[in-house]
Amino acid sequence: MAALPADARVLDLPVTARRRSGPDAWILELGLPEAWPRLRPGRFAMLAPADGRGPFIPRPFSIYSQPAPDRLDFLIQVLGPGTRALAALREGETCTATVPLGNGFEVQPPERPVVLVAGGVGSAPFLLYLEERAAAGAAERTWFFYGARSADRLYDRERFEAVGSPVRCSTEDGSLGFAGRVLDDLAGALDRGEVPEEARFAACGPEGLLHAFAAFARERGLDAELSLETYMGCGVGVCNACPTPTDPEGPWGDWPWVKTCVDGPVMPLRAIRF
Ligand SMILES: Cc1cc2nc3c(=O)[nH]c(=O)nc-3n(C[C@H](O)[C@H](O)[C@H](O)COP(=O)(O)OP(=O)(O)OC[C@H]3O[C@@H](n4cnc5c(N)ncnc54)[C@H](O)[C@@H]3O)c2cc1C
Ligand code: FES
Repeated sequence: MAALPADARVLDLPVTARRRSGPDAWILELGLPEAWPRLRPGRFAMLAPADGRGPFIPRPFSIYSQPAPDRLDFLIQVLGPGTRALAALREGETCTATVPLGNGFEVQPPERPVVLVAGGVGSAPFLLYLEERAAAGAAERTWFFYGARSADRLYDRERFEAVGSPVRCSTEDGSLGFAGRVLDDLAGALDRGEVPEEARFAACGPEGLLHAFAAFARERGLDAELSLETYMGCGVGVCNACPTPTDPEGPWGDWPWVKTCVDGPVMPLRAIRF
């Protein structure tokens, strides 16, 4: 089983800026004390305001963007006390971050097609993934299916579109792109041969979407991985709050549970019972 990543550390980081995204989310920009190498997409941080505002337990967030070697940005949808406290941080205030955590996505070699599927703020780990693929010359072999309830919840859509890969938006209220659920758009695209079935598929989003995606991918025999948004207490493998059951046929064999925070959050679909 995996251990805490060797590069993880606890830092008090200044908020350098924050901006609104959609009706209920913020992008929080944090300054790092020195230049960091680029992080794998899909890794995450445990964040909490440094002054103790908000709940005692920090909350997990995907690393959204690394626009400079000394900066990390997070896309945070406000849901409850933890996200409300983070969204209330102002420029110059300090955020305590345990970062970088988790395994992240194994970015596929440029020749392999990749299909990314996100619902709402589940898009957060995919900006880095798209940027990495574009840097490797594989933008046109990478598709991003981005779904939400309504157009204003396709957070930072223009930023994803600017990377250069095909971005296919869907909204349940029909306000932008395909009218309906993101998986229906994906199913149509696969049926019409607009995206290749032999691609590596990766999904992130709310539990409902992940369960539907897992069933869809199994039915069609897709090579898929999920970035799980399991509740977390510590994020570092100590509290056992984040168990995911494993598939005995998968790489963990008879080991029945793994910890999403240190063994994931990215899991091959064939490795877990979900
Ligand atoms: C690895 C990882 C990466 C994540 N990345 C992001 C990200 O980039 N951006 C982002 O906005 N959120 C992300 N999340 C989810 C985020 O951590 C939760 O929304 C946050 O912890 C909620 O805290 P809260 O105190 O505001 O709300 P809580 O009071 O804890 O919850 C408010 C409501 O949301 C529900 N809820 C909270 N967390 C979850 C969850 N994980 N799964 C299902 N329902 C939940 C609760 O049941 C409750 O109804 C991520 C989660 C994980 C595990
Ligand atoms: S969140 Fe504590 S062990 Fe995973």
